[in-house]
Amino acid sequence: MLSAIIVAAGSSERMGFDKLFALVSGKPIIAHTLAAFDRTDCVDEIILVGRADSLSELRKLLGAQTKVKKIVAGGAERSDSVRAGLDHADGKSDFVAVHDAARPMITPEKITRVFEVCRTSGGAASLAEPINDTLKRAGVDLAVVGSVDRDGVYGMQTPQVFSKKLLEEAYQLVATKNIAVTDEVSAVELLGRKVVLVPNHDFNFKITYPRDLPLAEFVLKQRGSMLSR
Ligand code: CTP
Ligand code: MG
Repeated sequence: MLSAIIVAAGSSERMGFDKLFALVSGKPIIAHTLAAFDRTDCVDEIILVGRADSLSELRKLLGAQTKVKKIVAGGAERSDSVRAGLDHADGKSDFVAVHDAARPMITPEKITRVFEVCRTSGGAASLAEPINDTLKRAGVDLAVVGSVDRDGVYGMQTPQVFSKKLLEEAYQLVATKNIAVTDEVSAVELLGRKVVLVPNHDFNFKITYPRDLPLAEFVLKQRGSMLSR
């Protein structure tokens, strides 16, 4: 059984207003994200983690989302929100997929692919973006001090899918060592376990700044028109 934990408890500081409720191609960003997981056959349940003050608004928005089993309050850091979701996953679940609600361009095909790679490669996989730009390291004065070989360098995206036991162990270690992690791959790395990447050549950027909204609108509209063709 696969539980999807969608983390939506951030404060949208860089956006300046609650980005997850922004309308893009006819519906709120969070609704696009939930719909993708709802349409994914291998996903058995969705745990939605929201801000304590927006739980009722999230509940209202759900409507026909059949797989959302629980809506729970998140915490101050993203990792606190993931752990809150993990605590509410079904006891029968052996796998969990963690996904940022702020990535509404995810598709059922990509979710399924990351789950497959997780199951066949030792229990940990993440969607990742190959880096195309030339990378340089600079000092505090912004003067270039050297090159970073971009060969084999990837930007981490979500979903990140794990055996539930492995992710629980990883977060236990994070808590014991009191380390801050920005994603689940970093937590699992601390255990020294293998994580396999699934390169993504499609749009799946995280909605962060106001400038991201028209781009997401374009991508999601185009996808919508391709589906209805
Ligand atoms: N998130 C969360 N709980 C937190 C922080 C973040 O559930 N305490 C979620 C966000 O809602 C988002 C995802 O993690 O779906 C990625 O975070 P980010 O894009 O940084 O969103 P925000 O933290 O809301 O934005 P900002 O950093 O600009 O405040
Ligand atoms: Mg943030």
